[in-house]
Amino acid sequence: MSTQDASGAVGNVTVNGTKLWDDILETARFGGTPKGGIRRLALTEEDRQVRDWFVRACEALGCTVSHDSMGNQFARRPGRENTLPPITMGSHLDTQPTGGKFDGIVGVLGGLAVLRTLHETGRETRHPIELINWTNEEGSRFAPAMLSSGVFAGVFTEQEALDTKDREGVRFGDALEGIGYRGAESCGAHPVAAYFELHIEQGPILEVEHKTIGIVTGVQGMRWYEVTLRGQDAHAGSTPMRLRADALVTAARMIDAVQTIALAHGPDSVGTVGLIENRPNSRNVIPGEVFFTVDFRDPDDRIVQKMEEAFYAQASDLAEKAGLTLEIERVWDTPAVQFDPECIASVARAAETLGYPAQQIVSGAGHDATYMAQVAPTAMIFVPCAGGLSHNEEESAEPDDVTAGANVLLRAVLEADSRL
Ligand code: HGY
Ligand code: MN
Ligand code: MN
Repeated sequence: MSTQDASGAVGNVTVNGTKLWDDILETARFGGTPKGGIRRLALTEEDRQVRDWFVRACEALGCTVSHDSMGNQFARRPGRENTLPPITMGSHLDTQPTGGKFDGIVGVLGGLAVLRTLHETGRETRHPIELINWTNEEGSRFAPAMLSSGVFAGVFTEQEALDTKDREGVRFGDALEGIGYRGAESCGAHPVAAYFELHIEQGPILEVEHKTIGIVTGVQGMRWYEVTLRGQDAHAGSTPMRLRADALVTAARMIDAVQTIALAHGPDSVGTVGLIENRPNSRNVIPGEVFFTVDFRDPDDRIVQKMEEAFYAQASDLAEKAGLTLEIERVWDTPAVQFDPECIASVARAAETLGYPAQQIVSGAGHDATYMAQVAPTAMIFVPCAGGLSHNEEESAEPDDVTAGANVLLRAVLEADSRL
């Protein structure tokens, strides 16, 4: 379909950027932190509060909101042909412990702005349009990330997801019941015609290249591991150095190895140890046990595999030399993903029609679109964030860029509505 036909079908309709920005600031109070960030971990009271707000806001636009068995929220706006599967938009409202006001939130509230524009202009679409808030995208409280879109796409079983526990031993299913958001619809039984996700880039490229829109072509491959290293608790004063089985010293060497491995592989390889638990964590006890996580990523799955092999070999060698026992469990493996060419083209045409400087980009961060690409034609839209900083309370974005992203989302959704 030609751009003119598509944009002609769309006209000059744009979103209300002021209201979108107000929504971002209003919802930031649910879990707001003194530093201006958000702490809104999945399935907490703060998550419940923003979910309640989401239901009210969508219902005020004439949408019906349903929930599935993983707590995913679906705000549905009817179309002319309601037997057709919906064109969907979505992202997430849960955050990191020291998260910002934009990660995930721009995609959900940008989608709400699209629904508001359709509602206020009385525009009728052929397909139903749905906005999705995915449960537990971050994977911070309940690992792995994108857990509920993963169940939706059939990557994880619902039971294994519901049985996942946080670091305090709280079970996902119990926490979901606890906030009252476990829906009747079986997760994954919800047909979808296409999925678009608006998100901040969470990296520096768009800002450095002076681009407003990232036309996201795919997501890099990523793997998570949980490492448990065991030695022996002992007295810090009376245990000679040669007799120690110090788990923390060897863990430190392994953590250094993660960085060395990432630096030694691809130009875009990354390796991170983000969570560590040292036991018994007492200043005059030699640590007998350490638990830590490893996150390896690269656009090329073969390089992720090589980094994994290097880490396993070096960690085993370090543990053996120190006389410690080592357990490594791979808890997440999501291969690199290519998005749908037609949906990518819709995003590119929308940015071009609207005159926004844009470029293609591969996502370094994981997103629910990673899994949605397995069950529906999918693409993403990025907008810049200041200094590329994210997963930080100082995360910030520009109102005009957020509005531009929502306008591209609106046009991509409407073009898909007329194309599919
Ligand atoms: O880990 C990620 O990339 C995402 O923030 N869940
Ligand atoms: Mn996100
Ligand atoms: Mn995130």
